[in-house]
Amino acid sequence: MVKIGASILSANYGYLKEEIRKVEEAGVDLIHVDMMDGHFVPNISMGIGISKYVKDITSLPTEVHLMVENPNMFISVLAGNVDIISFHIETCRFPFRTINLIKEKGSKPIVALNPSTPINTIEYILDEVYGVLVMTVEPGFSGQKFIPQMLKKIDSLKRLINKEGHDVQIFVDGGINLETAPKVVEAGADVLISSSAIFCHGDVEEAVRRLKEAVKF
Ligand code: DX5
Ligand code: ZN
Repeated sequence: MVKIGASILSANYGYLKEEIRKVEEAGVDLIHVDMMDGHFVPNISMGIGISKYVKDITSLPTEVHLMVENPNMFISVLAGNVDIISFHIETCRFPFRTINLIKEKGSKPIVALNPSTPINTIEYILDEVYGVLVMTVEPGFSGQKFIPQMLKKIDSLKRLINKEGHDVQIFVDGGINLETAPKVVEAGADVLISSSAIFCHGDVEEAVRRLKEAVKF
């Protein structure tokens, strides 16, 4: 069963609690918080305070997607306070060490890959992570267009995971909508992260329902 994660980047921040309540009621499976530092990506978004607030107000798993130059600095505060922490392999010199920092406090690690980063950069850490987050747009903004070459990447990653028998979920993030959702699921995605298709649609419940229907084969 494919899962849906709501990225709150495109939510109405003035009504964050209500926006989260709406996606909970609509039946999403997790809340995705995008943390940016203005260095790794050309944007600044939410920080530690919002991440902890989201964790406090929702019973769904809270995933923090770190798009920052120095993930360990934030992980030392976030680990144990949120359920899942996604760090980018491009920002991480010692991924085994970073993974341990996340796990030893009881959070689950996900390794994220920018669109042009090859799969072989994470081959040797697949046994250690809960998931791989395949970016299907360049990170930094919601509302961008899905990069079609990522279908092949998801497919190759799925084959590698199956061939080696890893227990790893494939998350996809960026440009997921009614048209791209079935394609990424067919390629092997397990969890779809979506923001603008959910929060900019007008009717959150209807948007989530349609996304779920689009991936029911
Ligand atoms: C982009 C973020 C995404 C973003 C997705 O850097 O990591 O989570 O919010 O937004 P959509 O679904 O609009 O592409
Ligand atoms: Zn994200």
